[in-house]
Amino acid sequence: MQTERYSRREFLARVYRYSSLSMMALLFGYDLSAHEKDLGKSTALLYATRYGATKDTAQWIQHGMRTPVDLLDIERVSFSDVLTRYDRFIVGSGIWIGGVHNKVIEFLETGQNSLDGKILATFLVCGTEESTDKGRAGIEGYFNVMHASLATKPSMSKAFGGRIIVEKLTDDDRKALTAFYNTFLHEQLRSWDRTDPEKARHFGTDAEYKIENTLLGSVQKSV
Ligand SMILES: Cc1cc2nc3c(=O)[nH]c(=O)nc-3n(C[C@H](O)[C@H](O)[C@H](O)COP(=O)(O)O)c2cc1C
Repeated sequence: MQTERYSRREFLARVYRYSSLSMMALLFGYDLSAHEKDLGKSTALLYATRYGATKDTAQWIQHGMRTPVDLLDIERVSFSDVLTRYDRFIVGSGIWIGGVHNKVIEFLETGQNSLDGKILATFLVCGTEESTDKGRAGIEGYFNVMHASLATKPSMSKAFGGRIIVEKLTDDDRKALTAFYNTFLHEQLRSWDRTDPEKARHFGTDAEYKIENTLLGSVQKSV
């Protein structure tokens, strides 16, 4: 399993130093050590990629967050290990020929019961753009398929631009995309890159606030 993770000590040091949550807790005379368990909850950021843009986007999202996040390639993990080890999940997939990665669907179906309420956010990396009604409807359709097995839909979902580098495509993908570009777009297949590190980092920061608010809620309940 590939992981890129802060040590627990480093994480706690960061939280204690910077977080508004810890400041508030201290102001209210709350003993943070009692909440080490909550703070130590771990988040998995699972991504499914074929050509790398979704992995890059996942890394930028991770960079936008201060809490420890394990970056996991969904094709290289054991679902049962992941489902027992983590308390929160961010799940992202590229889109190929109209659909998300089958491992993403499989993971969400497998974890259907234990995942309820634990999917913090989902994201897609695709060629479809949100600038038109048709594009927005297409993206909504991808998310609907992705979320179909979830009883509680994630409150944060976002589509990011991906990329196509023609020279890196497999022969089959190049042929399929060439036919698609010629038939539907009436243009030649060419390389493009609409990845956006800044937008992805912001998404990570928003997810971070969501985690902090959850923790703050649990601190407030206890004081
Ligand atoms: C074979 C192929 C099919 C694709 N089909 C779609 C599609 O149906 N809809 C879409 O929005 N984007 C489509 N794309 C664009 C991809 O979503 C985009 O290239 C994205 O970056 C892929 O993620 P990855 O780089 O992590 O593999 C396709 C790309 C490829 C290579």
